Amino acid sequence: MGTLIKKAFRAIGYNLQRANRPLPYHGYDLEVEARAAIARVDGHTMVSFEKLVPLYQQAAFCEQTHIPGAFVECGVWKGGCVGVMAQANLKYGTQRRHLHLFDSFEGIPEPDAEVDGAAAIKFAKEAGGGIGGKLVALEDQYGGVGTLECNRDLMETRIGYDSEYLHYHVGWFQDTVPQDAASIGDIAILRLDGDWYASTKICLDHLYDQVVRGGFVIIDDFKAYDGCEKAVREFLAARGESVYLHHLDRWGRYWVKP
Ligand SMILES: C[S@@+](CC[C@H](N)C(=O)[O-])C[C@H]1O[C@@H](n2cnc3c(N)ncnc32)[C@H](O)[C@@H]1O
Repeated sequence: MGTLIKKAFRAIGYNLQRANRPLPYHGYDLEVEARAAIARVDGHTMVSFEKLVPLYQQAAFCEQTHIPGAFVECGVWKGGCVGVMAQANLKYGTQRRHLHLFDSFEGIPEPDAEVDGAAAIKFAKEAGGGIGGKLVALEDQYGGVGTLECNRDLMETRIGYDSEYLHYHVGWFQDTVPQDAASIGDIAILRLDGDWYASTKICLDHLYDQVVRGGFVIIDDFKAYDGCEKAVREFLAARGESVYLHHLDRWGRYWVKP
């Protein structure tokens, strides 16, 4: 009976599957261990599987090829992406990396209607917040604020990363990034996930020069919000930096520092 129903669906172009069937194996390099690392940060990231597997691979590659520098994320929410990079270090690194987590740890600020585009305005309005680019946290839209406590719990208790190598930069990027950039030194992976124009631009302006040759620059929201793409394109054009933007999923892009 089941087979007959399946056949009937297939005949009209549908493939019938059980709703709770695990995601099919994609054939990515290191996929089995990346899946285990992703499972470990369950509930701590809103980032897609298609972005998380390459993030694990990129961090593992940095360890295997000895690309020097810290792993940095600006816009950590509940810390899942940093947790994935940390696990690649624990598996492949001969020593611990310094991990830098930048966030307000109280929510995302207002977008700026002038540059961030319709999707950002919609997001802010649904949160009952403003669209003037003010540094005030919008009402939570993601499913709980990514607090400092929640990040510590993931990184130090669940993953067991040495707290000596964890650096939490608490506050608005506009304050923390310019102030703390020099203390980070070389960067192997710079992952930007602050959604808006201003949140992306400030990080590129102050951290890009510290990304080492062969290091990765990852832009989570490149095609999600107009302002994010604008910040990246303006920055690259001003620098005369010609890079190929690799797709992660429909929205995310990354490039390797030339
Ligand atoms: C989309 S979430 C990040 C998702 C996260 N990377 C993950 O793994 O699920 C965006 C985060 O960026 C932070 N953020 C955005 N702009 C910021 C700014 N200017 N200063 C501080 N934090 C900011 C927000 O607080 C929020 O936690």
